[in-house]
Amino acid sequence: MEVIILPSSKEIGALAADAIEELVRTKPAAVLGLATGSSPLPIYDELARRHDQDGLSFTQAHGFALDEYVGLPVGHPESYREVIRREFTNRVDVAPDNVHGPDGSAADIQAACLGYEEAIKAAGGVDLQILGVGTNGHIGFNEPGSSLASRTRIKTLADQTRQDNARFFDTIDQVPHHVVTQGLGTIMAARHVVLVAFGAGKAAAVRDFVEGPVTASCPASVLQFHPHATILVDEAAAAQLAGAATYRHAYDNKPEWQGL
Ligand code: GLP
Repeated sequence: MEVIILPSSKEIGALAADAIEELVRTKPAAVLGLATGSSPLPIYDELARRHDQDGLSFTQAHGFALDEYVGLPVGHPESYREVIRREFTNRVDVAPDNVHGPDGSAADIQAACLGYEEAIKAAGGVDLQILGVGTNGHIGFNEPGSSLASRTRIKTLADQTRQDNARFFDTIDQVPHHVVTQGLGTIMAARHVVLVAFGAGKAAAVRDFVEGPVTASCPASVLQFHPHATILVDEAAAAQLAGAATYRHAYDNKPEWQGL
């Protein structure tokens, strides 16, 4: 796990975008794992800017969303399929047919989840997975208690997560109780994982998953087992890391050829 502490979300977005740009330029048909929430927005803004200004192209790339609410009507503005479209894929030139998300409105949710796993596999697996982290340590919608080996499936949201996400809806009652999410095992199969977090509200979660024990009680901690996990945090989100000086030293002295 590499922890990189940067001054602001803008630098975080730019560094993550560098890794995505390099991937897409060397492998145009790259498979990107797309996350929602506010954390990835600086990455999407920067990629859209590079698309507009530098000709960065995604025509052959594929995108797989991490998760989706169950029960929101198709086209609901807060469904993650719509959010991904609005915040990223509509702003660049990804072919709409190459963008996929778990189906939260399927009649047979279990079959749809299995189908989603198959689709990721058929595309060659995720090359780079973008992640945020919940205040309770969730990634995707893998709430505390999630199996560390889990695959795409239905989950019940924790109260904390419904409260955190209520800001996207008129009232908390409108936040669905159920979701479908890639599992922790699914996320761990991505070849490179880039998790971004900023703000003091994430400091405890960042401390727990980076430096605490690997435990289902803090789902993001499973990333300690990932061979290529990059954690990009701002000063506020890094504030409770005991090893901050070590991470800074390692990054300041990193051989340039290593990239992210
Ligand atoms: C949401 C999403 C996660 C996201 C997290 C944090 O519920 N399912 O993918 O990482 O919560 O969101 P934010 O980045 O807005 O803090």
